[in-house]
Amino acid sequence: MIVPMPPTTTPSAHIPVLLEAVLKGLNPHQQSRGKYVDGTVGAGGHAAALLTQAVDATLLAIDRDPRSLAIAQETLMPFGDRVHFAQGSYELLPQFAAEIGFESGEIDGILLDLGIASMHVDDPQRGFSFRTEAPLDMRFDPSSGLPTAADLLNTLDAESLAHILFSYGEERESRRIAKAVIAARPLRTTTQLANLIASVVHSTDHLHPATRTFQALRIAVNDELGAVERTLPLALKTLKPGGRLAVISFHSLEDRIIKTYFHTEARDCLCPSKQIICTCGHRASIREITRKPIVPDETEIRANPRSRSAKLRIAEKLIRSEGSHE
Ligand SMILES: C[S@@+](CC[C@H](N)C(=O)[O-])C[C@H]1O[C@@H](n2cnc3c(N)ncnc32)[C@H](O)[C@@H]1O
Repeated sequence: MIVPMPPTTTPSAHIPVLLEAVLKGLNPHQQSRGKYVDGTVGAGGHAAALLTQAVDATLLAIDRDPRSLAIAQETLMPFGDRVHFAQGSYELLPQFAAEIGFESGEIDGILLDLGIASMHVDDPQRGFSFRTEAPLDMRFDPSSGLPTAADLLNTLDAESLAHILFSYGEERESRRIAKAVIAARPLRTTTQLANLIASVVHSTDHLHPATRTFQALRIAVNDELGAVERTLPLALKTLKPGGRLAVISFHSLEDRIIKTYFHTEARDCLCPSKQIICTCGHRASIREITRKPIVPDETEIRANPRSRSAKLRIAEKLIRSEGSHE
């Protein structure tokens, strides 16, 4: 759904990650009247740079979070009707694109810059940060009706909870934390959870002992890995031949999903290597522009520590790949 958004309060500063590499990868000035999608527009940093570089391009700006989208609307106001906004998950990219007349198979470039933005962490009401007291919400879209972090913490059994903490947060003390959570139920606020974790786990690195748990809960609440997995084929389908998909991830599991998908789609045959004659019939639908991910250099990491774990992968849809993303 394309929605008009209300004006916002002061936007938080969010520095776009790997900006130069994204612009180089999407190469927007090469296309005349290009059509682009930013599936995670956030504060609009990447989007503004793209629209500045490609002076006659049109952009569909999507964000699941109504507050992020409102900030993007302010940032991108100078570009007027060259930008269309849509609130919802990037999984709805094909529908949102169709609503504004971007036909499937004619989009020049798509960017997904995954995860959380600085304004989420800075917003004391959202529950993403253990540094400020807030309800344990963590939904990108608080109006979605989906379960909150508090709902997960207060209803899941110990094994399911530990599984979330271990797989999405790489938390080695997942079982101990899960047990403590169950004993302390009901949990309502960020500081209640952070203090509980600090009382049972001692940090062995420079991180607060609650860091990994908060990351894991956020990923689970928003089904972040599922959303990426479901969206990659949809995104490739909507690209035109020669169009490019750029994805920035911040988590090893996310990067693995993207890497596996790109490697698979770039291959002509998926039969076991011992098999001499191909029986699978799989044909490559993309060319990997980045066989290895692009990562930020030391200068960028110093200027923007949030970029530390970023990995950018870019794929180009092959000319002959029409219809192969079904
Ligand atoms: C890292 S920020 C993007 C920052 C942006 N590139 C910029 O330059 O300001 C990620 C954004 O993606 C949004 N997001 C997360 N999951 C999403 C999803 N499934 N669909 C759409 N937006 C999503 C978040 O609300 C957040 O605003």
